[in-house]
Amino acid sequence: MSIPKGSIPKQTQLFYGADYNPDQWQHAPEILERDIELMKQAGVTSASVGIFAWTALEPEEGRYEFAWLDRVMDRFAQEGMFVFLATPSGSKPIWLSEKYPEVRRVNKNGRRDASGGRHNHCMSSPVYRTKTAQMNRALAERYKNHPALALWHVGNEFSGECHCDACRMNFQKWLKAKYQTLEALNEAWWSNFWNHTFTDWSQIPTFDESIDGLSVDWLRFTNDQHVSFLRNEMAPLRELTPNVPCTTNFMGTHEDTNYWVWSEHLDIISNDLYPMPDDREETWKQSIASDFIHSMMRGMSGGKPWMLLECSPSSVNWGQINKLKRPGAHRQEVLQALANGADTIHYFQWRKGRGGFEKYHGAVVDHEGSDQGRVYQECAAIGSELVSLESLCQQDLPQADIAIVYDWESRWALNASCGPKAAKAIQPYPSDITTEACQAHYRALTVAGQSVDVLSVQSEFTDYKVLVIPALYMVSDALGARLQTFVEQGGILVGSYLTGYVDENNRCHLGGFPGAGLRETFGIWNEEVDYLHDETEVSIVAELGETYRDVAKDIVEILHAESAEVLARTASEFYKGSPIVTSKQVGLGAAYYVGAKLGDDGLSQFYQQVLSVHALHPKIRMTMPKGVVIRQRESAQGTLAFLFNYKREAQSIELHDQTLRDLATGDLLTGHVELKPYASHVCVIDI
Ligand code: GLA
Ligand code: ZN
Repeated sequence: MSIPKGSIPKQTQLFYGADYNPDQWQHAPEILERDIELMKQAGVTSASVGIFAWTALEPEEGRYEFAWLDRVMDRFAQEGMFVFLATPSGSKPIWLSEKYPEVRRVNKNGRRDASGGRHNHCMSSPVYRTKTAQMNRALAERYKNHPALALWHVGNEFSGECHCDACRMNFQKWLKAKYQTLEALNEAWWSNFWNHTFTDWSQIPTFDESIDGLSVDWLRFTNDQHVSFLRNEMAPLRELTPNVPCTTNFMGTHEDTNYWVWSEHLDIISNDLYPMPDDREETWKQSIASDFIHSMMRGMSGGKPWMLLECSPSSVNWGQINKLKRPGAHRQEVLQALANGADTIHYFQWRKGRGGFEKYHGAVVDHEGSDQGRVYQECAAIGSELVSLESLCQQDLPQADIAIVYDWESRWALNASCGPKAAKAIQPYPSDITTEACQAHYRALTVAGQSVDVLSVQSEFTDYKVLVIPALYMVSDALGARLQTFVEQGGILVGSYLTGYVDENNRCHLGGFPGAGLRETFGIWNEEVDYLHDETEVSIVAELGETYRDVAKDIVEILHAESAEVLARTASEFYKGSPIVTSKQVGLGAAYYVGAKLGDDGLSQFYQQVLSVHALHPKIRMTMPKGVVIRQRESAQGTLAFLFNYKREAQSIELHDQTLRDLATGDLLTGHVELKPYASHVCVIDI
């Protein structure tokens, strides 16, 4: 890689722009010209172009039409703006998918997709790999020296799976490389269960829910197939434009994409995030959930700046209820991303199309077309504010003291295992036990005023003071040993329910949960687990007599404290009195275990205790209610503090001996401060 990770060589300011579809407006040159005017006026620096424009670029096989794109690129260059040029693999030309049906995905029932839709190519198809590589080579040849070209936007939101014969054969090959022998595979998959022993590699299917080791390997394989497809796309780009970085837009905690693996292959990390603007009681939790995802992007980029490559400037059009963002909410969302290390803010979409599935999706420019709309004006105001925050550009994000581990493979293993309580369907996304657990711990730590990094199981833990592994269901012996070493050397480890049940093959650990040596590390034996109905609650009592102002729900483990100290116990149900929160001194460190799903209050009380025992105080001393969040980011002018009220109600804080100076207004914030609904302040810290 010739480009330092996380940098876009042509970037000298925060990038601000949107997905832009000039290919849809070729019949209306006056609109294209008006777009440029409106972009300039809104402070736009850049746009992602051509994401779904393959047919406009290659209307028939081998005949390329670049004139329209030349005009866009040239016009951008004239205005000193940049293009994130997309490779158009996200949606296949109909001529291509009709001529070469193999490029279309096959579903579990063996049915090949019809042409149309998008994000539905077969990742194995040699034809699609050849065609996309040819297209990318042609784009790179044509624009390699173009001053507007700043970044390659490779494909779009890759995900999903294909069950065609080519994919199945590739899966079998992948398994052969992994396991070498069928004996090893059968053992790893425990496949004599229900008589599923494989006697020939060719018998192995792409799915069989009764073999949960297979399910996890299938997801690992599919993830690798996406990465291999992506690498195939990037090969000609890297060859012809070694100084133009490549990214592909992630989807946060999307269920089937292990972005930790992808991020190793990209020059810069980018993410799309569409928090639903809820504006109800719990809306602040949604905002902290966004912070969690931003922190994960920071983790993937190794502390380097990353890009928010899509967000909506107002509402989306695909939720059950597509609420508008309330005043202040959008500015807050943008500043939140910056506070967490983004150097780019791009919207989906610049202008609403006239037709098609996304014609009502939020856009900077409405069908009405002028600069008079509320959304356009808010976006333009943000455009000028970003200019005043330029000193943030290309500044790394400091490492936190605390980290949470988020592991897709463990999530897959848990979801593939029949038994643990099923996750609830929450619109617009299904919920997920792993993600929920990680977000709950992240939220409690955020409420305690702490910054939290998000790491993978492969990350280096040693520099962190506290490592949290919520519902880390899959723990290999090697990982268990690393966690034990972390604690012995002075780290504080926090585990939760559903930790360490299975090994890397989704086989249960023998000898008592948590396995992989963690029974010894935490000093507990988790004998049984009780999954509760939604309305059932189990009370929890602190060992020293105070009741946790909270109850456990959903999941309660019946623990035995073997060499751990008990901090809290259950106080109802037949297992009343069993330990539920424990701690154990190990070497120079300590290991805590929370064996039930506590609510926000309970988890907050737990962390208050842990943070105060270990003297981990927030960097900025302030008293703040839930939903007020403070973050810091370095800038060329020193550290900036971002102060947010994520609630729809005004809230007050106490800044004690700290004074903050609001950059936008010059106001001094000190002592008792009243924060307006959805207030955001970017401040210099005056000491
Ligand atoms: C995704 C896609 C975009 C668009 C938006 C709408 O993020 O990448 O093309 O469909 O969703 O929210
Ligand atoms: Zn396929």
